[in-house]
Amino acid sequence: MVQRVGRIAVHVLIIGAAGMVGRKFIARIAADPACLGAPVTRLTLADVVPAVAPAVPAGQITTRIVVGDLAEADFAEALVADRPDLVVHLAAVVSGEAEADFDKGYRVNFDGTRALFEAIRHAGDATGNPAGYCPRLVFSSTSAVFGAPFPDRIGDDLALTPLTSYGTQKAMAELLLADYSRRGFVDGIGIRLPTICVRPGAPNRAASGFFSNILREPLVGREAVLPVDDDVRHWFASPRAAVGFLVHAARLDTTRLGWRRTVTMPGLSATVGDEIAALGRVAGPAAVALIRREPDPTIARIVAGWPRAFDARRALELGFTADADMDAILAAHIEDELGGHVPGRAV
Ligand SMILES: NC(=O)c1ccc[n+]([C@@H]2O[C@H](COP(=O)([O-])OP(=O)(O)OC[C@H]3O[C@@H](n4cnc5c(N)ncnc54)[C@H](O)[C@@H]3O)[C@@H](O)[C@H]2O)c1
Repeated sequence: MVQRVGRIAVHVLIIGAAGMVGRKFIARIAADPACLGAPVTRLTLADVVPAVAPAVPAGQITTRIVVGDLAEADFAEALVADRPDLVVHLAAVVSGEAEADFDKGYRVNFDGTRALFEAIRHAGDATGNPAGYCPRLVFSSTSAVFGAPFPDRIGDDLALTPLTSYGTQKAMAELLLADYSRRGFVDGIGIRLPTICVRPGAPNRAASGFFSNILREPLVGREAVLPVDDDVRHWFASPRAAVGFLVHAARLDTTRLGWRRTVTMPGLSATVGDEIAALGRVAGPAAVALIRREPDPTIARIVAGWPRAFDARRALELGFTADADMDAILAAHIEDELGGHVPGRAV
């Protein structure tokens, strides 16, 4: 009998556990070990850099930290050897790096993902019967699987015509996920995440970084550079919403997906101007004044090729929920990262 999350989620394997979404997901499990439908009692946290074990009362969750490269021979086999009930695959070389380093992008995002699927296919059940193990597998995909020209709102049915190596690698992984699910090797669900905003941590050099930088930095009194016009529109979800998508995907009755195993997650379509207006409401004009406009034609050109809005009705019908508006995204960041108040403003 295959154990399904929703009835008995005891052992969760997270790959890419040291990344931003992974850390947030682990924190959610630590805060509510039953959030996946049954108490999580074991966590295996894998990444090329050491993940951090959750702070939970002694004996509540047994955590194993595993450091290694998913694309290395035998690494995936070792991760699934004791047949975790739920596998959450977040590991990736993200867009900028996958474009700059062709070999690394394909190696991690495609070869590593296929190695994971193959390892699960061969893991077998406790008696060594390969047909006896079919874990829920949640795969984090991206809207970069779609390529221009775009309709006004992109539905789940638009053909996958990615225009980056990263998008191509994720699109191929979506196809593998569907076929390995159809063949009964995994019980897969792919979730195409919007751009996560406000991304916590230091500013990074991703072309999309400014969407978060112009909120996160002024909130703590630091300057941020805005390289594009205020009317640039994009598709956002908070880290909190992203964790909500993972939790829901882990629990969902996947028979509702039919053969289309990947779903575009709901998000918020908003402009840079909407972001700045929300910042002004929360932190006042002094914070807004910390945004330095420095047009960058290269970034503006890249961003102009990105999707702006999706028709996520399929995800909404399946019960996934998005942030209500930019104020809610900011409020989540202030609560989760700044202890509930903006430094320098009266509570
Ligand atoms: N953050 C976003 O805006 C966004 C949007 C769409 C999709 N996604 C997808 O969501 C997932 C999580 O995103 P994130 O923002 O947490 O990314 P992140 O870069 O913060 O985390 C990814 C993690 O994967 C690990 N990793 C990289 N190569 C690995 C390998 N070979 N073996 C094992 N681990 C490896 C990295 O060390 C890192 O900790 C990724 O798959 C990403 O493609 C993210």
